Amino acid sequence: MNIIILLGPPGAGKGTVSEVLTKHGIMHVSTGDMLRQEIKNNTALGIRSHKKISQGLFANDADVMTMVTDFLLSQKKENFIIFDGFPRTLIQADKLDDFTKNSDVSIYNVLRLKCPEDVLISRLSGRRTCVECGAVYHDIFSPPKIFGRCDIEDAALAKRLDDEPVVIKKRLKIYNKLTKPLADYYKKKSMLVELNANCSPQDVRDHTLKIYEDII
Ligand code: AP5
Repeated sequence: MNIIILLGPPGAGKGTVSEVLTKHGIMHVSTGDMLRQEIKNNTALGIRSHKKISQGLFANDADVMTMVTDFLLSQKKENFIIFDGFPRTLIQADKLDDFTKNSDVSIYNVLRLKCPEDVLISRLSGRRTCVECGAVYHDIFSPPKIFGRCDIEDAALAKRLDDEPVVIKKRLKIYNKLTKPLADYYKKKSMLVELNANCSPQDVRDHTLKIYEDII
């Protein structure tokens, strides 16, 4: 099994990259989605993570590693998986390396999305998510056909609990401190590929397809 790691600040458009690869049969796994599901299910891990996420902090490394390794051990058939938002700390990256040494899982490459901070803030401030299917919209950049309603499900769109202005600033600060160093970590291993995400969603899709043309 091969893992593609998506590395990028909140709002860089990891969702757009994931969507295009998913359409080509690659499985998408977001630790953010996994954690939101744990919160929805009111599990012990979800309860522990809820306060942290709503404050813009990271969930515990140990909790994230438990979720991810349980998931990987349950997957036998997938050839490629995109990890969206994992690993996010050097501890998680080290633990993932240990896991790959003792399994048939390997890291294919690490795609880093680059985008200026003012653009990230405007993207996150206008993001709306469908409460039923999780489809993502933006008030200005990709509005739904009917204001406040999902185009796919006839359901309401909501602002994510961590997309409030104060929390967005905190998430960006924590990304710069804890996740950005992973770019150097993977660059030293010659695994890093960079993509300019400060362009239209269509340009992001086209660049992504070019990078992964050999495997899709
Ligand atoms: P997670 O859900 O992974 O959030 P994130 O990493 O902060 O990333 P986002 O989902 O906010 O951004 P994105 O890049 O996916 O942007 P999107 O495509 O939606 O994690 C949430 C939280 O869970 C974390 O903060 C943390 O607390 C916890 N967590 C998760 N994983 C963890 C881990 N491994 N360890 C510890 N804790 C963990 O796009 C954003 C908006 O911009 C949308 O509205 C979209 O329409 C718009 N947009 C996107 N691209 C473009 C474009 N090219 N042009 C114009 N608009 C665009």
